[in-house]
Amino acid sequence: VSTSTLPLLPATGSPLLAAARPDLAAHVRHNGPLPSRPDPLALLAVVADSGLTGRGGAGFPTGRKLAAVRSASGRPVVVANGAEGEPASAKDALLLTRAPHLVLDGLQLAAHAVGARRAYVYAKASTLGIVRAAVAERQSAGYDAVEMHVVEAADAFVAGEESAVVAALDGGPPRPRDTLQRVTERGIGRRPTLVQNVETLAHLGLIARHGADWYRRNGTPAEPGTFLATVSGAVSAPGVYEAAHGITLRELLTCAGGAGEPLQAVLIGGYHGTWLPLPAHADRALSRTALRPVGASLGAGVVVALPRRECGLAVAARIATYLAGQSARQCGPCLNGLPRMADLLTRLARAERQPALAGEVKRMAGLVEGRGACHHPDGTARFTVSTLRTFADEIQAHLTGTCTAERRAPGVRRTA
Ligand SMILES: Cc1cc2nc3c(=O)[nH]c(=O)nc-3n(C[C@H](O)[C@H](O)[C@H](O)COP(=O)(O)O)c2cc1C
Ligand code: SF4
Repeated sequence: VSTSTLPLLPATGSPLLAAARPDLAAHVRHNGPLPSRPDPLALLAVVADSGLTGRGGAGFPTGRKLAAVRSASGRPVVVANGAEGEPASAKDALLLTRAPHLVLDGLQLAAHAVGARRAYVYAKASTLGIVRAAVAERQSAGYDAVEMHVVEAADAFVAGEESAVVAALDGGPPRPRDTLQRVTERGIGRRPTLVQNVETLAHLGLIARHGADWYRRNGTPAEPGTFLATVSGAVSAPGVYEAAHGITLRELLTCAGGAGEPLQAVLIGGYHGTWLPLPAHADRALSRTALRPVGASLGAGVVVALPRRECGLAVAARIATYLAGQSARQCGPCLNGLPRMADLLTRLARAERQPALAGEVKRMAGLVEGRGACHHPDGTARFTVSTLRTFADEIQAHLTGTCTAERRAPGVRRTA
């Protein structure tokens, strides 16, 4: 995915990515200095008023998470999560390399708000050079109150799940732990831990400077602000775009250069996301409120455009196989259920004439849901069920041993 950006917001430009260079001087020149030691409770109030929600996938209200960590017992630790294990996402790496100081400002402010004295940046290898240089630059300028440690994130889909982040920063393998214990209560070194996506922190860095009303000038009243969208697939200008919540799918695809060829569907929310058929959903707004009724969510802002010439079942089978291979192999649904679902989808994609295949995929999806220590099986099940729904006509064609697409699984005949 290329890393172009387009200022979609005439009033403000592209606030997150507007600094000319990633160094501290360019950052301060563009954004102004970090507010010095704001009252922590006032900071919590402004974040809550802004309506900021997490950009790592779940969309949890940031103000509520900050307040929970602040009131937990023990000295908290804060983490900027830049693991970005999702293969179809490029926005966190772009942000960390284009605007590292905005993320680090957010991390410092979050630490100040919850009363932490230790902070981590957990980021993937490709971003570490710029992030380490940015931390060193701030240290030599005496810019920060809270010590920051930069740690390399493992290159794996589940490495950015928050309990896996905690496990890695505790020195163990980056595998999710059971979800019964909230990391906000007991995380790194058994201390209350705030894990926040790097984009969430960058928004926080701007909200602390400009206020809740400024943030609410974009987006919808229920979902204010902008989000970074990674648009890939069959569009003319794939890349990362900053858009206001509520933008329609059609508008976002147009910003990404428009479809280079006829589209049949988009995958919204990444590999744990949902297929939405086109043109039926072209004018659907990209907001949690508008996506929820169709079982979709923006996730970490991923949109993949699927051209009509490509077999959706073959693409979905490849993604399901990838997801099955990415489990931490420590819970039953991941060990048995995910490989089975991937195998069934692969057989469907290869046009095996077995009418029971689709029903069996659905049954397996129901069996794994809610049964893992983390949400990896749930996300995989959601993706798989939406595949059955969106490509129902293609499944019928495959049951006759043929496929309607030009690019299809090896050995499958084109539908006459
Ligand atoms: C399988 C899985 C993978 C995840 N990977 C990431 C990731 O790479 N980066 C991220 O920020 N959040 C990821 N999350 C979400 C985190 O668990 C957590 O909710 C998030 O970092 C919290 O930050 P936010 O509230 O700012 O979104 C993942 C969740 C799951 C279930
Ligand atoms: S559900 Fe899967 S990915 Fe999550 S902890 Fe268990 S084995 Fe690992």
